[in-house]
Amino acid sequence: MNTSLRFVLYICIVLNVVPYVFSIKCWNCRSSNDPKCADPFDNSTVPITDCKQEKGLSHLPGVRPSMCRKIRQKVNGEWRYFRDCAYLGEVGIQGDERFCLMRTGTYNIFMEYCTCNSKDGCNSSSMFSPLPLFFIVLTTGILKMLS
Ligand SMILES: *[C@@H]1O[C@H](CO)[C@@H](O)[C@H](O)[C@H]1NC(C)=O
Repeated sequence: MNTSLRFVLYICIVLNVVPYVFSIKCWNCRSSNDPKCADPFDNSTVPITDCKQEKGLSHLPGVRPSMCRKIRQKVNGEWRYFRDCAYLGEVGIQGDERFCLMRTGTYNIFMEYCTCNSKDGCNSSSMFSPLPLFFIVLTTGILKMLS
């Protein structure tokens, strides 16, 4: 490939990918502070955060948040919701962000992680579908193997 064509391609990639990866905005709330953070999600009082502005995590130096996440947690029969920028992890399941990772833990805890990067504010709930049973079995199996 000739050099100028390669240069043009390079610029296109940088211009398209970099802003996309580094400037996602996510809803940021927890239902313990704002009941509207729960499902069905009501964005009227919930702030949307530009993940670029996040300070970063001290235990993950250099890692920037490039995704949004919604976490649904059931602890002792009570649902809690968290929405935030996400630093690590994969989008959805096998790249399909309609699906969420689920995990049943000890002490009567159930967790569901929905990670997305398709657009600003993608961690509102509407896009996520319930996970097919096949994936539940598969992912809980994988998570058990990893833990
Ligand atoms: C908030 O929710 C309303 C109703 O679903 C929607 O029309 C609007 O675009 C949302 N706001 C943002 C910033 O996404």
